[in-house]
Amino acid sequence: MRILVVGSGGREHALCWKIAASPLADKLFCAPGNAGIAALAECVAIGVEDIDALTQFAVDQKVDLVVVGPEAPLVKGLVDSLEAAGIRAFGPRRNAAEVEGSKGFMKDLAARHGIPTARYKRFLDVDNAKIFARTLPLPVVVKADGLAAGKGVIICNSHGEAEMAIDSMMVGHQFGHAGDSVVVEEFLDGEELSFFALSDGEHVLPMISAQDHKRIGDGDTGPNTGGMGAYSPAPVATPEIEARIMKEIVQPAIAGLKAEGREFKGVLFAGIMVTRDGPKLIEYNARFGDPECEVLCIRMMSDIVPALVAAADGTLEDFDLRWYPDSALTVVMASNGYPGSTKPGSVIRNIPPEQDDAIVFHCGTRQNKGEIEAHGGRVLAVTALGESVGAAQAKAYALVDRIDWPEGFCRRDIGWRAIARDETR
Ligand code: AMP
Ligand code: GLY
Repeated sequence: MRILVVGSGGREHALCWKIAASPLADKLFCAPGNAGIAALAECVAIGVEDIDALTQFAVDQKVDLVVVGPEAPLVKGLVDSLEAAGIRAFGPRRNAAEVEGSKGFMKDLAARHGIPTARYKRFLDVDNAKIFARTLPLPVVVKADGLAAGKGVIICNSHGEAEMAIDSMMVGHQFGHAGDSVVVEEFLDGEELSFFALSDGEHVLPMISAQDHKRIGDGDTGPNTGGMGAYSPAPVATPEIEARIMKEIVQPAIAGLKAEGREFKGVLFAGIMVTRDGPKLIEYNARFGDPECEVLCIRMMSDIVPALVAAADGTLEDFDLRWYPDSALTVVMASNGYPGSTKPGSVIRNIPPEQDDAIVFHCGTRQNKGEIEAHGGRVLAVTALGESVGAAQAKAYALVDRIDWPEGFCRRDIGWRAIARDETR
């Protein structure tokens, strides 16, 4: 098969790595890719949102399967465009990607189908949003409706802060048009986890759960990021919790979307808060998480390609995926300054080569005159497997410490919650 992966992050490097290992993959392209992906795939300089150019490329190159990594092209209709051109694609069409493209749509979908989630209202009017915010207990959560690169959620510890957040989104246009409409909702208290399931529009195949570290600083402190590290399995995701997530949060969404004429094909990523009352939905995403995909791919024993094809073709019923029982952990190395602005072009040396149980995925790198350079906030995802989260963590940090990159940094405590649980057991 001729396969095109769309994206340039650690998620796409991990997907390319799993796909390249498949005997079904004869030729692999990635648009636009990065320096790590270039070792596995032919990188083509087309941006992820250039729907027409991606479609034309897939047609010209007789691509058999396009795997879409990030949300932006899904929400813009890349899969619709590919299918119209007769190209098979893994990922939801635009009308189903709306679960991620509009938080208001997602919340209303949950409400229509009885999916447990935080109490909320959506607003187009500033004053009404503020009045409702005052009725909620603290903290109050204010969210821009549209895509805001993971930054459109503000957790407010006072009602004054909530009013400022509403003003900055709706009046100050902090997130552009994404904030024209906002969701105001109650705060969910508990432990967060990411759950992934494949769907072909009708059938659902659970994958695995993972836990992400969203905050920049050790001990889960400081501003939110795209994710500074992840591990899987997440101990909070007991078999009972996972069964409830499937029954109460994943299956009703897939069935509800189908009933509403928005068949969801691809991977549904449910962000879950495990509260005292059980699992509740924080949000859906229409794609794999990053860096969750890195740990998911290293734990996957099965060939990934037949699963992606089955999701695209509607043949997931009775499909099975096998996973290594080991734990996986990934440490993200970011450019100094992240999640604020960063300076591109610093040179990274001594990236360890792939081992049986470890690999350094590239998230934001370019090759220049034989050197690997950092380009972007998150740059590497150092990923390892081990018998426990602690063993995977030790292995990942041993690799981190071999990397020579003075302009980069990472958290030193990825996996701490799971390791603390192991130690108190
Ligand atoms: P999102 O951009 O929707 O992924 O939200 C970013 C993060 O904000 C989530 O991963 C949660 O940690 C947090 N968050 C969002 N909504 C809530 C909520 N209702 N209660 C508590 N935390 C939330
Ligand atoms: N790591 C969270 C996300 O991909 O949205």
